[in-house]
Formats: sequence, C-alpha cells, structure tokens
Amino acid sequence: MDISEFNSHASVRFNHLFYDGIDTVELAAQYGTPLYVVSESAVRERCSHIRKTFLDKYPNTRAVYASKAFQTLDICRIIAQEGFGVDVVSGGELYAALKAGVDPETIIFHGNAKTLDELEYAIKHNVGRIISDNIREINEVERIAARLGKKVKLLYRITPGVDSHTHRFISTGSLDSKFGIPLDSSVRNDYIRAVLNSPHIDFRGFHFHIGSQIRDNFSHLAALGVALKLLADVHADYGFDVPELNVGGGFGIRYLPGDPDIELAYFIDPMMQLIRIETEKARIPMPMVSIEPGRWIIGEAGITLYQVRSVKTIPGIRTYVGVDGGMTDNIRPALYEAKYYALSANKADWSHDTVVTLAGKCCESGDILVKDIGLAEPKPTDVVAVFSTGAYNHSMASNYNRIPRPAVVMTTADGKHRLSVRRETYEDMLAREI
Ligand SMILES: Cc1ncc(COP(=O)(O)O)c(C=O)c1O
Repeated sequence: MDISEFNSHASVRFNHLFYDGIDTVELAAQYGTPLYVVSESAVRERCSHIRKTFLDKYPNTRAVYASKAFQTLDICRIIAQEGFGVDVVSGGELYAALKAGVDPETIIFHGNAKTLDELEYAIKHNVGRIISDNIREINEVERIAARLGKKVKLLYRITPGVDSHTHRFISTGSLDSKFGIPLDSSVRNDYIRAVLNSPHIDFRGFHFHIGSQIRDNFSHLAALGVALKLLADVHADYGFDVPELNVGGGFGIRYLPGDPDIELAYFIDPMMQLIRIETEKARIPMPMVSIEPGRWIIGEAGITLYQVRSVKTIPGIRTYVGVDGGMTDNIRPALYEAKYYALSANKADWSHDTVVTLAGKCCESGDILVKDIGLAEPKPTDVVAVFSTGAYNHSMASNYNRIPRPAVVMTTADGKHRLSVRRETYEDMLAREI
C-alpha cells in the first residue's frame, strides 16, 4: 500500500516513514518515544477546507474547534489564526485557551456539571457563549451575571432524542443521555420562559451534539429536524426568532486504510439545505449556524511513535509486540475498542506480513493498542508509528503506572519540526504531592 494514499502527509523514503518530509526515525531518536507528532500543515489544511465548504460557502456561519480533542497552547493559537473559535468544557480548558490568547468572544463554554467557580470564571472573562444544559445553571448564571454587571450570551443544549451510529460511549444525542435538556413541552417551556425573562441573559438559541466519529449523515439530519421544529415552535409560542443554531461536531475520520474518506460537504450541504427549507416553511429567519468539529480537524493530523521493547511469541496463539507507551498515551482502544493502523517506521519498505498484537506497557491485560496488525519482522528497538492519533489521545493521557506523558512535536510541510509540549518528568508527576 502507498502510505500517502492513506495519509497525504506520510511518505516512505530510504526505507523509513517520513512525515511532512521529516524522517520519523530521526524524530524518535531526537525527542525520544513515545512521541506525539502533529502536522500543523494538516491542521491548517483542514481549517482551510472548512472555510471553503462551509464558512465561505454559506453566509452567517461560524466554526469552533472542540479543543477537548487535543488542546495545547500551540493548537489554540493556530486555530485562532485560522479564524475559528474554541470550544472548552472546563475551567482548565478555558484557562489554557485564554493563556493562548484566544479572543474570549470566540470561546464557547460547555459542560453538563459546571461548577460555580467555572461559571464565574467564564462570565468574568466574557466568554462568547455559555451552553447550558440544566435549569439550575440558568439561575446561577443569572445571579453571577447580575453581581458582575454582565449580560451573558447563552444557548441551550438540547437532547434531540436520536441515536447516532457510533460506539455507545461516544453517542450523546439519545433521550437517555446525561447531556442536554429533554424536549418534553413541560420541561422545555420552563427553560424557555426562564431565559426569555432574564435581564442578564441574552438567549441566543440551541445547540446539539449527537456523538463522535459518525460516518453517516442521517443522525445529524434527524437531530437537525428536531431542532428546526423547536425553532418554529418557539417562534409560534413566544414570538421569538431564535438567532443561532449550533449543530455540534462528530464528523467521522479515517483510522484504517480501508475507511472511507468522507467529505465534510456530505454532512454540511444537506444540513444547510434542510435549514433553508424548514425556516422558509415556518417563515422564520435563517439562524446563524455554527459547527464544532474536534476530531475532524486534528485526528488524522497526528501520529504516535513508539519504540518496540519486547517481542513475545506464544506458539499457536499470537505474537505480542510490547512498546514503550500504551493506554496512558492512547486510552481509546481500551475505552471503546477503537481500531488503529500501524507501520514499522524504520522498515517502512519491507513487507508488513508478520501479524502481531501491539501491546502497551501498562499493568492491564486490556492495554492493547492494535490487535492483529501486520508489521515488518518486529524486533526490539524498532520504531512503530500508529496513525490518526491526533484526537483524544494527548488530551486523554494519564499517569497510570506513573508513566510520564509524551512530548508533542509539531511538523510543517516545509520539513520543519519543533517541540510544542515537552515530555513530562518524574518530578512533574510528584509536583502536587505534599
Ligand atoms: C459538545 C461537543 N461539541 C463538539 C464535540 C467534538 O466532537 P468531535 O471531536 O467528534 O468532532 C464534542 C465531543 O465530545 C462535544 O461534546
């Protein structure tokens, strides 16, 4: 297989895997392993694609990066330079976005259980939107805003009651979900009245996010249908024209060479068409439409480099190839059986026909990175690259077994690389202990 067909930033030269024209075996030697390598060029290409297919194509639209997918100061700056907002879901993510210099007006603050401190922090710093999903929070926002003399722009996250076709752990739009407000009229009317009557809340509209890594557009369209009916109902019942609609993220990416490369337009175009048709039918104005992609921007831009530490063959059963990272830098296979593709970076030209199980180094049998993957006669000290690790790897990393979190190196298409996040040290891990 030509690796560049799977990942256009990857190539094979001199029997080594290159990323953005840089020898990954040299990156591993220079920065150590495990190592997250993230292509800034790939991120910028994705942003530019979103501009072309959404922001420039449709008026009154916004794109916001769901930074939970991968949040560093560097990436926040890049995203802000690209003209996108940043979605945060905790005081910590908000702190980092502000430190990176992101314009607070472009920040969206989410969360199903925000603390009072977080709300106060967000309101004090004038975040652009608070997305609320419970009524108690409305009262708290109201009180804090009154005390600080602010008016808060707020959207409701709704539970559209649709099942998305993805792993149940990353499905969020069904009725039985901890996210969002249910749309039974009794509940809904209390919420709407509460915000419309509030002197300190500028009610901007509705938000939904139905899940992640979704590869068909049916669930987005079904959820959108529910939201548009709500817009029409709010207009009819309260005479209020909802100014904004945020349709979330969740657009699927490629993890395996056989995965389809789904065009963003496949999601966007029918949604924009449906919004136009339904708002015309209900005689209400088109709202401003926002999207919140995380994985779609960062997922395929990242690879992780590991060093092989052990090769163990159990006759008639399988060969385990143990690497120097694992579930501490990539929890997704253990958390929801996520599948990944891997390559022997220092033997990239060789045939990859030794089928092995790529195992992590943690004291958990479930710490398996990739099951049944073909590698090139793996031996200790080989470098293995795992692809599409940009999203929900670094941001979900842990110190289980007191394993320091890896460094992040950013690459650019002109063959340059820079350290973006240094490797954690043993001292870092003890820094909080008294
Ligand atoms: C509210 C919200 N918006 C956006 C996203 C981003 O999802 P994805 O990375 O699949 O695009 C998430 C992810 O969980 C989310 O909870």
